[in-house]
Amino acid sequence: MCGIVGYIGNQEAVPFLLAGLRRLEYRGYDSAGLAVLNADGIALRKRMGRIANLAELLQESPVEGKTGISHTRWATHGAVTDANAHPHVDQTGALALVHNGVIENHGTLREGLLREGHVFVSQTDTEVLSHLVGKHFAEGGPGASAARLVEAVRSALRQVVGTYGIAVVHRDLPGVLVGARRGSPLVLGIGKGEHFLASDVSAIASHTREVVYLKDFDIAAVTAEGFELSTLLGGVSGYEVKAVEFQEKDVDKGDYPHFMLKEIFEQPETIRDAMRGRLSREEATAKLGGLNMTNAELRAVERVVLTGCGTAFHAAMVGEHLIEHLAHIPAEVEFASEFRYRNMPLPKDVLVFALSQSGETADTLAAVRESQRKGHRTLGICNNVASTIARESDGGVYMHAGTEIGVAATKSFTSQCVVLTLLAFLNGRIRHLSSSQGLRMIDELEAIPDKVREILKLSDQIREIARKYAHAQSMMFLGRQFNYPVALEGALKMKEISYIHASGHPSAELKHGIIALITPELPSVFIAPEDSVFEKNLSNIEEVRARKGPVIGIGSEGSRRLEQVCDDTILIPRCPDYLSPILNAIPLQLLAYHAAVALGCDVDKPRNLAKSVTVE
Ligand code: AGP
Repeated sequence: MCGIVGYIGNQEAVPFLLAGLRRLEYRGYDSAGLAVLNADGIALRKRMGRIANLAELLQESPVEGKTGISHTRWATHGAVTDANAHPHVDQTGALALVHNGVIENHGTLREGLLREGHVFVSQTDTEVLSHLVGKHFAEGGPGASAARLVEAVRSALRQVVGTYGIAVVHRDLPGVLVGARRGSPLVLGIGKGEHFLASDVSAIASHTREVVYLKDFDIAAVTAEGFELSTLLGGVSGYEVKAVEFQEKDVDKGDYPHFMLKEIFEQPETIRDAMRGRLSREEATAKLGGLNMTNAELRAVERVVLTGCGTAFHAAMVGEHLIEHLAHIPAEVEFASEFRYRNMPLPKDVLVFALSQSGETADTLAAVRESQRKGHRTLGICNNVASTIARESDGGVYMHAGTEIGVAATKSFTSQCVVLTLLAFLNGRIRHLSSSQGLRMIDELEAIPDKVREILKLSDQIREIARKYAHAQSMMFLGRQFNYPVALEGALKMKEISYIHASGHPSAELKHGIIALITPELPSVFIAPEDSVFEKNLSNIEEVRARKGPVIGIGSEGSRRLEQVCDDTILIPRCPDYLSPILNAIPLQLLAYHAAVALGCDVDKPRNLAKSVTVE
């Protein structure tokens, strides 16, 4: 995905555009650029690489103007080059546009424009859109007006197949900024004598406390003094002004070297926030009002499907175990990118949960829409308030983890596991769990934040272990039952920030082929708490050791037997099986973090990645 920022008002646009882009850099950081309107027309500055490169260019070649748009890119179409950086201009150079999303029919549109004599300078789908808008603007008759630019945008977008969040300016209209969205988020910020557009609220929260989240098919005509919303079909579009819930502290690293480490260390608080106000000792149960379902409706649910991508998918796998274990409801998990095409034969009373930290992941959003199209009640478990998935779902539960800047998901994973635990707990209590069991579970849940604090104290020990194995070419992560998804999550963390190839497997699968990979150079990380399958895990560890494979054990405090069979062990506080994914994820997050730091990797902005994948 990419980041878009737009400004129109009584201040110089560039400082705001750059500061806003820096807040959005986690969305993509292949290249960055901006376009500002002034007496000379459109001043364009763009450069590949980080936003710092653009800032350097602007030092060398400053621009002035009070209306502007800017963009930080995660490449979808076209290599990472200066030419492919946004903004893109139209054939006349009079109009500039930035875009987040994918124009799926850009090839066909490009061919048509080429036949009309258009000349392109980039390989991007976005440049096709800028030429298309410019073409319609030129055909729009005499005199420049906001209405003419809006109509040109509307005519162009009606020809587009795909997703977009765009901002557009025209040199003949210095007092107008146009925005539009379909499938990629765009938020409008309301100021005094100034207005803003951005891909997410973090880019504008320092300047406004009132925003409007554009809906799909909205087109916004924005001036310094106000705005008008219309739809792709041409009618007026209603809107709701929302208060900004964003907190500055979330986008400030403080004393931490990386956002990822800060967010790992925030987990005692974020886990508590995920439970806050949702545990009732009086009723010995969890309370989740956002589900918009009565207990009777919940009792009628005979099957649950959970879906998501990446880390959210791993949390969904934990949810599958939790819902079966605590609520005795059949559950299954599917990748969102598979769910949307699989056409699962599901009963009408199935309940579908879509997990997404950002609430904007394209595949997960598509899965939500496909599920609703089939008539299934679809609930969202999201972190980003007012995100598209949260707004389009039939209800759901917010994670309340605060903005997660690090591209590698950490606190969002444990908060998703907490929310899923509460969900399973609630459903268990309205089916078969007794009130005394409920009270015990509340005690067990409320003890978790302090146990996480204890684990975080092991960071230095984990750093030494990470340094010892950081130069491995590959690693394996293994666990059973609740901790098989945690093995997958540990492997993903290691892959995405240290670039070490890693894979996750159920421990018992070792004998079915995987053990062929074991060598003295391939470390295996076993998640082996002293639970009901501990002995089985020990056997698997012995099998690896017999073949001289190094073993790192994540186990329970005092687990001497694990220490005897592992090369290195990380022993953490004990907890019931159903809560172990929350605790076991923490050492794995730290292991990956410290390995990546040891290797000099860019922990918060790993190569090729973006925080939320709003393209398919
Ligand atoms: C996890 O560390 C990655 N950042 C990625 O797999 C992420 O979990 C996935 O893209 C889903 O994102 P979402 O939760 O915002 O939908």
